[in-house]
Formats: sequence, C-alpha cells, structure tokens
Amino acid sequence: MGITGSIAAYKSILLVRLLVKAGAEVKVIQTSASRDFVSPLVLSTLSKNPVLSDLSESDAWANHVMLGRWADLMVIAPLSCNTLSKMATGVCDNLLMAVYLSSTCPVTVCPAMDEDMWLHPTTRRNLTIIANDSVSIIPVGHGELGSGLVGEGRMAEPEQILEAIALQLNPHSKPLEGKRALVTAGPTYEPIDPVRFIGNHSSGKMGIEIADALCKAGADVTLILGPSAERPKCSKVNVVNITTAVQMFEAVKAIYYNTEIGVFAAAVADYRPENAFESKWKKDGNTNPPTIKLVENPDILKYCGEQKKEGQCLVGFALETDNEEANALKKLKSKNADLLVLNSLKDEGAGFGTNTNKIAIFGKKGNKKAFPLLKKSEVATEIVNAIIAELS
Ligand code: PMT
Repeated sequence: MGITGSIAAYKSILLVRLLVKAGAEVKVIQTSASRDFVSPLVLSTLSKNPVLSDLSESDAWANHVMLGRWADLMVIAPLSCNTLSKMATGVCDNLLMAVYLSSTCPVTVCPAMDEDMWLHPTTRRNLTIIANDSVSIIPVGHGELGSGLVGEGRMAEPEQILEAIALQLNPHSKPLEGKRALVTAGPTYEPIDPVRFIGNHSSGKMGIEIADALCKAGADVTLILGPSAERPKCSKVNVVNITTAVQMFEAVKAIYYNTEIGVFAAAVADYRPENAFESKWKKDGNTNPPTIKLVENPDILKYCGEQKKEGQCLVGFALETDNEEANALKKLKSKNADLLVLNSLKDEGAGFGTNTNKIAIFGKKGNKKAFPLLKKSEVATEIVNAIIAELS
C-alpha cells in the first residue's frame, strides 16, 4: 500500500486496519510528503510490518523489484496530484515510484485532491494515461474537502476501497449470483416505409458490455437489443432482438416484473411515424416534399420506474449535449431510477459508436461519481460495481 501526501492520508490508517482485519498481509510505502500527515509508527503498528520510505535505509537497499513482485495488489491511497503526474510520465524519484514501475501485480489508486486540481485538464489527461496503462481508479467522492470548499475530490471511503479491492482480487466471485437482469441496448428503427426509417447512431456497444459485465458478475441476463452488428461475448446472455421502440417496450414488459436489475442503455426513438407506408414511398413529381406525422413512443424506463418494486435496482442513462448534470438529475427523478449514468456528446471519445466512454454516475441520495475516459468494458464494470453497492 502506497501513501502519498494528502490530508486524506488519515483515512489510510483505517484502510490498513481493514485490510489486515480481512486477512491481507500489508506492507506500507510512504512518500516523504505523507509523513507530515500520518506517522510511520501508526502504520507500522497497524500493518505489523516496518514502513518503507526510501530506496536505501541504514545502508540497506530496499528491493523495489521484489516488493512489486511480492504483492498480489498494489493500492495507492491517497493518490496525490503529484504522484499521479509521476505515474503518467514515469518519473522514478522515490521508493513508491520505483515499486510502481517495477510492479507485476494489478495497481489500484484512490485519488484525493481539491476539486480544482481534480478537474484540471492536466489531471484528467494523467488519469486517462494511467487508466490506459491498466491502473484501476477508484473514483473520488463529493463532499467537504481539505480546503474547506465543498466539491469533488474526496478520497473514497476505506470500506468502499476494501470492497473494490476484494472484487479485483477475486474476479471470479459472483456477487450477482441468483439475480436476474434486463439490459436494453442499441438504437431503435422506426419505419417510414419498407425502405426507410428514423433511427440514431447507437452501435449497441455500451449496453452489450454491461450485459457481459453483469453476466461475469453472475447475473442471469436478458439483453433486449435493437438493430446492431455487435453481440455479447458471454454466451449465457439471452439476446432478444427487436427493431422498434414499441417492440422493445413489449419485450421489456414481458420480463421486467421478474428481474432485480434493469439497465436502460438503449437509445430509444422518442417518436415514430404515425403510419408506416406498406410500399416504398415514391417521388411522384409532386413539388412539395411529403410530411411525416410523428407520434410519441412509450417511455420504457419511465414505465419501469413507475412499476418498480422493493428490491429492484433501476439504472437509466442520459445522453446529453447541454446542461448535462441538470438534465441527468431531472431524468433520475422523473423516471424514478436508482442510478443514472450520464454521458455527454461534448466529451471526445464518449457516446455513440466508440469503444470508449466518459461517464458520471448519479445516485438518488445526491451522490455522484465521475470517471475519466475509459474503455466501454471498464465503464460497464464500474456501472456493475455501482449496482452491486446499490443492491447491498
Ligand atoms: O450504443 P453505443 O454506440 O455504445 O452508444 C452508447 C449510448 C450513447 C447509446 C449510451 O451510452 C446512452 O447514452 N444511452 C441512452 C441514450 C438515450 O437515448 O438517452 P436519453 O437521454 O434520450 O434517454 C434517457 C433514458 O430513458 C435512457 O436510459 C433511455 O434508454 C430511456 N428511454 C428513452 C426514451 C424512451 N422512449 N424509452 C426509454 O426507455
């Protein structure tokens, strides 16, 4: 466990205690800045191991290569802005960085910093770099910060970190065993005539990754999929193919009452042509272009929110282009969802078609977790982790 210079270092004391209590053998590495916040004596007492700080101590060399090989997991909590930037660029000027750069085990970090630093483009860039290097990032929370300001940047709570670590160390555990999940994904096509339709750019990738992640976590998954070339990797996912919003609604209604989890990642057309032509609509020399009368489609997520029973967890999405957070919070409430995943088309690499996405998850209690740009598979894992936390 690495501890860097941040006021959140006080929470690391509890994390060490929880890890030891859970049966882990813990070796702590402190940066010199972290010693101003928490004493090595406390950490060595709780970890039952000497605390390491320097590449060489009392003429003995700290074998950073072996430390990085010894551990099953390296956790850096808190991760300061400074150490984050060293991780992104490979600066190796202390024992913690030497161990990180020579580690062969998975690495998880728990950032902690003031909101302005957290939101700075350099920090966002550095987070994306380390995420691409396969470092798992446990997102910051919202609340009172060391500066006295209120905002994003609080280190995750030690209990949450422990839960995430346990899942990472035991990926074969099936926390959703026995739960039934329904996922909607892809676009809907609303026919104008046998040749043309009203649709959108959804590829289905996001929802399919969620179906796979739920399946991996042990859930029994039904994926209601609009027209898409993509397919889930997990052969156990039951795929129901549909084309229109009305068909998606019927497929959802047929199973929703029998599920504990509903994730609505589909981009459903809000409107459809009132009457689809049975034959191809021809240009007939008429100079006036034809008019298509639209009628409203059922709001599937809203229906499920209204029908929700105790013990069901409902996750909605919001794809926004403006006033993102306000619109997401409005949808969370109006559709009676438990979690709302916001993605914005303003963020490069987010939204339709890409293999990446950048999301924030909002909970009913006003909690918010924002993530850097991640692969859609990683985003799916984070959403499933949030569902597991919600259900427990
Ligand atoms: O499929 P990809 O290419 O991977 O792209 C992923 C995605 C961008 C489609 C996905 O991440 C996403 O944002 N999905 C929701 C898109 C959307 O239609 O959002 P919305 O803000 O319009 O809808 C809000 C919520 O209500 C969504 O959960 C939606 O599924 C649901 N909805 C909307 C309309 C409707 N008639 N019925 C619904 O259930």
